[in-house]
Amino acid sequence: MSFYRNSVWFLKGLREYTKSGYQAAAQQFAPKDLDVDLSGRCFLITGANSGIGKATALEIAKRGGTIHLVCRNKERAERAKAEIVNEANNQEVYIHILDMSKPKMIWEFADKFQQANGKLNVLINNAGCMINQREMTADQLETNFATNTLGTYILTTALVPLLERCEDARVVTVSSGGMLVQKLNVDDLQFEKGVFDGTMAYAQNKRQQVVMTEQWATAHKGIHFSCMHPGWADTEAVRSSMPSFHEKMKNRLRTATQGADTVVWLAISSAAAQHPSGLFFQDRKPVSTHLFLAQTRTTPGEEEKLMKSLEEIATNHKPNTT
Ligand SMILES: NC(=O)c1ccc[n+]([C@@H]2O[C@H](COP(=O)([O-])OP(=O)(O)OC[C@H]3O[C@@H](n4cnc5c(N)ncnc54)[C@H](OP(=O)(O)O)[C@@H]3O)[C@@H](O)[C@H]2O)c1
Repeated sequence: MSFYRNSVWFLKGLREYTKSGYQAAAQQFAPKDLDVDLSGRCFLITGANSGIGKATALEIAKRGGTIHLVCRNKERAERAKAEIVNEANNQEVYIHILDMSKPKMIWEFADKFQQANGKLNVLINNAGCMINQREMTADQLETNFATNTLGTYILTTALVPLLERCEDARVVTVSSGGMLVQKLNVDDLQFEKGVFDGTMAYAQNKRQQVVMTEQWATAHKGIHFSCMHPGWADTEAVRSSMPSFHEKMKNRLRTATQGADTVVWLAISSAAAQHPSGLFFQDRKPVSTHLFLAQTRTTPGEEEKLMKSLEEIATNHKPNTT
């Protein structure tokens, strides 16, 4: 089954996820969708110092939005902020230093952010990693899981009350089409069993993000949730975590701005909000979360189990003061 899934997915990727796939899809885009004045709207973007996150921040800043860049490295964050402020001619860009693999710090950050900011219109869960060895954080969490799944879960859960205060609040999660090769596995969230494979751990985390988005959409009707695949974009993550894929594909990869297009569209366009909450998008269209005949569908019970497990782990990593 994994040979079938990987082959079908790669052929699909060559057709759709590349730069030429983007250019073909972009012919159907309505340019006016992104013609939006974002003055007075507030956006929080994780992993905003490079790649798709930075490109998203820049596009939103150009339209007048207030941007909160959530990054783990101060120097890289300041460099990105300077570029965004300069290029967008928008001073409303703020830095927050946070490592998304550290659950206690995420809870604390979200608490402080809510106290300091009266509102948040849009949360963009973009930070992500693919660590190719099984590494544990200081909290004894597997690092891919801690960053991609648990970090996204905690930040979103903790900011829901603030988002709910706004009309037209949105949460956009940058997942990946790579999740199509994985069936949700709720019995081994931190890859303790079998031989560890970083690509498959990442794909499992990205599948978890898709299920989380569907579940949040059901639980929080006042917020529009979506997740998406940016296509294959030439970014630091691809260069460092998938060097041989990058070497083979580098001439066919999208730019970070092309990868960010659907993130921006989901975050700001009225067209996006007309779609039901909880869907998975690619190039401004909702697409299936399963490949044909891939046997990746799960039961409602398994999805509920994922959410219960995340709630339990997240609660266990709450600081005493929160
Ligand atoms: N590029 C693609 O083809 C592609 C395809 C599918 C999905 N995606 C997704 O797109 C998102 C953005 O990735 P990218 O391709 O734009 O790569 P990127 O340029 O390397 O950006 C990843 C961002 O996430 C940040 N990050 C990673 N771990 C973090 C942590 N523990 N705490 C805080 N920030 C952390 C990175 O910070 P540092 O700079 O400090 O490392 C960086 O800002 C990811 O979720 C990725 O999975 C990308």
